[in-house]
Amino acid sequence: MALNVLTPWLAPIIWDGTYDIDILDNQHNSTRIGLFVFAVKKYIRFLLPFLESAERYFMVGHNVTYYVFTDKVNEVVKPKMADGHILQLHDVVADQRWQDVSMRRMEILTVFTKEHMPNEIDYLVCADVDMVFNDHVGVEILGDLVATIHPAYFLSEKGAFTYERRPISTAYIPHGHGDFYYMAALYGGKVDEIYKLSMACQKGIVEDKKKNIEAVWQEESHLNRYLVYNKPTKVLSPEYLWDTILPNGELIKKKRFLAVHKNHKEVRN
Ligand SMILES: *[C@@H]1O[C@H](CO)[C@@H](O)[C@H](O)[C@H]1NC(C)=O
Ligand SMILES: *[C@@H]1O[C@H](CO)[C@@H](O)[C@H](O)[C@H]1NC(C)=O
Repeated sequence: MALNVLTPWLAPIIWDGTYDIDILDNQHNSTRIGLFVFAVKKYIRFLLPFLESAERYFMVGHNVTYYVFTDKVNEVVKPKMADGHILQLHDVVADQRWQDVSMRRMEILTVFTKEHMPNEIDYLVCADVDMVFNDHVGVEILGDLVATIHPAYFLSEKGAFTYERRPISTAYIPHGHGDFYYMAALYGGKVDEIYKLSMACQKGIVEDKKKNIEAVWQEESHLNRYLVYNKPTKVLSPEYLWDTILPNGELIKKKRFLAVHKNHKEVRN
């Protein structure tokens, strides 16, 4: 059960050894890829290591546009970038609560996937900034709609998934539904698919707000809800999202994208 390479709806689950990168690189020789990241308030400190590690491991040899959203545009230190790589800096308001910061990403995504990105890129990858690339992450992760299995739940029974379970929330997933628990720290797809996803999540967040409720894991709950009923066409194994404090690390041969350890209280407030 554990290390499947196909979902029950026959989407590939990407592990080391399931693909030939040379074939895929050739197929994607004119693909334009975006990497969307939010770095507001104290999270700005994670941006440079994130971008530097991306230059080393993310889509090497391909054209990449970094879409960075921050309330501190003037403080951004640009990394040395390869030819064909572009850094776009965008101003964004910093919400007081980190929960609101996290949910604002969906709102910004709806705007950019509709208005700017369709002319600039083919695929968009959305990532958390408090992470570093630690090994190859390339075009094998591209697909129409791509999500990553949460590394703390890849061996869990469905009943243990921390989906939103209150029917009053638009992120509600009934018991018995759902396939994987996905983590919102890495997902992506074709620009128009991410537009549909972010619109749906944003709508859910707004409706919940009207009722004065917030899903248990904010945007991640809404993302999971969307993906239960709109199945991803490709699923990334926990190789693509790992945290060295987690158990079962011996099952994960490549740790490609790693959580940076931090004092949550200190950076969130
Ligand atoms: C991409 O690959 C195709 C088919 O192999 C080739 O014809 C084309 O010249 C390549 N384009 C670039 C930019 O390398
Ligand atoms: C990739 O970037 C290079 C350098 O900026 C540019 O010449 C080329 O046209 C780009 N390719 C695509 C497919 O956008």
